[in-house]
Amino acid sequence: MKLIVEPASRPLEGYLTIPGDKSIGHRALLFSLLSATPVRVRGLGDGADNGRSAKAISALGATIVRDADALVITGTGLDGMRAAGAPIDCGNSGTTIRLLCGLLAGQRFATTLVGDESLSKRPMRRVIEPLLQMGATLSGVGQGADVTPPLVVGPASRPLTAMAYPLPMASAQVKTAVLLAGLYADGATAVTEPGPSRDHSERMLRYLGAPLVVQGRTTTVDTRGWNRRLAGAAFDVPADPSSAAFAVVAALIAGAGEVRLPDVCINPTRTGFLDVIAAMGGQVTLEDQRNDGPEPTATLVVRGPAANLRATEIAGDLAVRSIDELPILAVLAARAYGTTFIRDAEELRVKESDRIATTVAMLRGFGVTCEANPDGFTVEGRPDRPLDAAHVQAHGDHRIAMAAAIAGLVASGPTLIDDADNVTTSYPGFADALSALGANVQLAQ
Ligand code: S3P
Repeated sequence: MKLIVEPASRPLEGYLTIPGDKSIGHRALLFSLLSATPVRVRGLGDGADNGRSAKAISALGATIVRDADALVITGTGLDGMRAAGAPIDCGNSGTTIRLLCGLLAGQRFATTLVGDESLSKRPMRRVIEPLLQMGATLSGVGQGADVTPPLVVGPASRPLTAMAYPLPMASAQVKTAVLLAGLYADGATAVTEPGPSRDHSERMLRYLGAPLVVQGRTTTVDTRGWNRRLAGAAFDVPADPSSAAFAVVAALIAGAGEVRLPDVCINPTRTGFLDVIAAMGGQVTLEDQRNDGPEPTATLVVRGPAANLRATEIAGDLAVRSIDELPILAVLAARAYGTTFIRDAEELRVKESDRIATTVAMLRGFGVTCEANPDGFTVEGRPDRPLDAAHVQAHGDHRIAMAAAIAGLVASGPTLIDDADNVTTSYPGFADALSALGANVQLAQ
């Protein structure tokens, strides 16, 4: 599939409901499998990645029934999972495969986990290594420096061995995998992370009654004296800030009458992009702020002509807190005066594509001067003239495709983006959503 984008001919305008947060959606599904009571999940996005987690929990014994605006998930509890009859296909979804590794590490049966071409190249040693240290059985395909899918997880002899694990990188997926395995271990499993990766698992597992404590950068699951019961009534999935970021940047660079995005998750581990935008001089207002559930939410509002932006630096914790938004922030940087530096973001190299390489290649397609570095990139902003009309490759990466589409709104002519099928992994209605705001974005064969 291709995305075809016309330059925006007028400011964007409208009220846009962004699909449910992908990270929270995965957890709502996978953690409901562990619940002893049925859980009503509302607001789940219809992206393919969450669909993979839904199929996975069905294969492991959950039932999923639609009831009005919710999915009612009847799980198996911690100890009632059944072996899947066939390999579980995780598609493009790193979160599905890595969280499943943790969930399955303590099961008495073996499971094979497979993925698509992109996922089959992604590094799994980061999750396999700590789980092996806990006594789990896991193997994958040895390929050069790392291990890749297909993976075989289990069978385990229980309990696993609790341990203190310093995470080598700020990764919520690895952190969550170790904590999930910790539910099947014989004591206190503690994970210390070097940076503030998203903390949805901590919030949601605690809601279900897991014996989990967060102290600074260390999260501990201690099973001693615990009744081994997780239970909850409902998970509400707020709108995905990572998807909202595309509409926000579109409104900032193309101008907005008023663009309103309701009920967006504003968990501080996810809002680095809002801090970056503020540092660049962009104005995004947070209205209707709510803090009555596990995740805080707000309506994001952008109004006014194309923003007058200045370059910035994104590094350290801020790079962790905006890791998935760096491709779209790179587009914003191309519309800001000065050179923007993105550092400490080597994790971009192992996302759905090598996002340092693919972001830089995409921006160059639009005539932007930028340089790749081992841990990030630089972008020279030229807001004084339109971007070049471009024909670019998304390399099968949903966030590169969508970032390129937003860049196309301020280009001098039509933009064509190849290999954009995977937009459906996180945001199936992306082209229609942008068009509803007054842009002209089409997904076509
Ligand atoms: C995710 C964690 C991040 C993020 C990914 C979703 C999650 O990956 O980039 O899109 O849901 O836990 P890492 O754990 O590799 O940092």
